Amino acid sequence: MKILAIETSCDETAISYIEAKNNNIKVLGNALLSQIKIHEKYGGVFPMMAKREHSKTLVPILEKVLKEAKEIKIDKKEIKREKEIKIILEKEPELLEKLIPFLKKYSKPKIDYITVTNGPGLEPALWVGINFAKVLSFVWNIPVIPVNHMEGHIFSSLLQKKDSTNFTLNSLRYPLLSLLISGGHTELVLVKDFGKYEIVGETRDDAVGEAFDKVARMLNLPYPGGPQISKLAEIARINKFTGTGITLPRPMIHTKDFDFSYSGLKTSVLYLIKKLSKLTPKLKIEIALEFENSATETLISKTKKALIKTKAKTLVIGGGVSANTHIRREFKRMIAKEFGKAKLYIPEQSLSTDNALMIGVAGYLKITKNKMKVYKNIRAEGSLRLA
Ligand code: KG4
Ligand code: ZN
Repeated sequence: MKILAIETSCDETAISYIEAKNNNIKVLGNALLSQIKIHEKYGGVFPMMAKREHSKTLVPILEKVLKEAKEIKIDKKEIKREKEIKIILEKEPELLEKLIPFLKKYSKPKIDYITVTNGPGLEPALWVGINFAKVLSFVWNIPVIPVNHMEGHIFSSLLQKKDSTNFTLNSLRYPLLSLLISGGHTELVLVKDFGKYEIVGETRDDAVGEAFDKVARMLNLPYPGGPQISKLAEIARINKFTGTGITLPRPMIHTKDFDFSYSGLKTSVLYLIKKLSKLTPKLKIEIALEFENSATETLISKTKKALIKTKAKTLVIGGGVSANTHIRREFKRMIAKEFGKAKLYIPEQSLSTDNALMIGVAGYLKITKNKMKVYKNIRAEGSLRLA
């Protein structure tokens, strides 16, 4: 089956066009436009600004993806029920302006399903993707399947690359444990089957990615902070920059539950910086190192506990923070050393952060699981949960 996947939950506008057959995923077309440059100035993402950018870029991205897939044919015509399209896109005038001429210009591509992120994320941003999917569905007569963004992060780790456009989907042994670490989430989820989740533990305050971003800001590093902190911490490790006595806490590392806390760690960095007379490049590097070590150690400690408790034999890590070099390395080391028989899956780095391929893959699993299900009244749900 051919799936068009759309992702607009935060500051990445992404579309992927895939052909899925059994365990094979062929990427026919794929594009992602990051809004980082726009949000960088403000040190974070503004929902209304993200929404406008998605509205402006979705149609050009779709055109690019279909061209890449060689599935774009000029077929000039009038379209029916333009009035209804205008109602659906009432709040997205920038999208409407581009979408109507696009639909009039090209013929319907061979798409069987459209999958779209319906949450969690920034609601105004999510709505753009959903309304875009609704119009395409309406004009082309294709069903739309809503996908939970976090399901995308869980199942993207199953994609094993064969070549630049072909992937195999690893088959899974349930139950599996998933550690989801992103800008909005830090949670341990027991996955009993596709669609059957139990939250084992989660952050009580900030998400780990949020802490990376906020600490980076304190160190005057650009947004998003995760990759920047990672770079500095790696420099520290290579040059063995340790031992100046910078220490940060490991919040909740010894508690019996499976929860996390990152807000105290962030505040500790703030106090530490306030105490320093000058934030030299070397001190920045050392703070980045100690912060990254602290964040990693708490993630590892709670995941270990949860693996023992749940007896899961597979660990899947997903979400933007799983792109982190040190975290990947430490988890691989820990599993090999302490859970020799367990399997660890982490998506390749380009698929760790937000993308549309993951929405295509999770959508494919959802379609195969609930074959005849029709999804009506799809809505954006900013705080959509897995369970
Ligand atoms: O999954 P994602 O792309 O978007 C959300 O769903 O939130 O995750 C974004 C988060 C940001 O907080 C970003 O700083 C963090 O992932 N991130 C990283 C790295 N790359 C992205 N954090 C640590 N190290 C990285 N290399
Ligand atoms: Zn994400």
